[in-house]
Amino acid sequence: MTTNITFQLNGREKTVQAHPMARLLDVLRQDCSLTGTKEGCGEGECGACTVIIDGRAVMSCMVPVCQVHGSKVESIEGLESMGADGQTCLHLIQEAFIKCGGAQCGICTPGMIMAAVAYLRQPESAPGGVAEALEGNLCRCTGYTRIFESVKTAIDRMKTGANQSR
Ligand code: FES
Ligand code: FES
Repeated sequence: MTTNITFQLNGREKTVQAHPMARLLDVLRQDCSLTGTKEGCGEGECGACTVIIDGRAVMSCMVPVCQVHGSKVESIEGLESMGADGQTCLHLIQEAFIKCGGAQCGICTPGMIMAAVAYLRQPESAPGGVAEALEGNLCRCTGYTRIFESVKTAIDRMKTGANQSR
């Protein structure tokens, strides 16, 4: 049995017809054609599927889509914006991942970036550091040095005023 579920997706109202217990991850990838959100473990262990729901980084493989009815959902695709010149602008964290080599394999990267965005939006005094903010996001191959460096670079850029509005 399917039902209509309405939520805000990347700033726009979206209604999908889905089984209430369908995984948000599948609804995003299959019903919404947003394949930037990746599946790693499918068991809430790796963070590859991380999206932001009502301001919190959440693993979308563990969320039945009925739970986001009326919520604000952000996926990796929602981070880009349109510049005044009509060109696509990346979010500063995306730019930092490119600059610092934090985008390593493509599977874990979108989840890392979404967790980092949720962290960057916290007040400066937010407890915990970058490592704690990303502790739910696993890298199984290359390591965390460049990933953490990317987030720290984005923080430095925020402090100097670049892309502060995002
Ligand atoms: S795919 Fe969701 S936590 Fe691994
Ligand atoms: S698993 Fe993606 S960089 Fe290691």
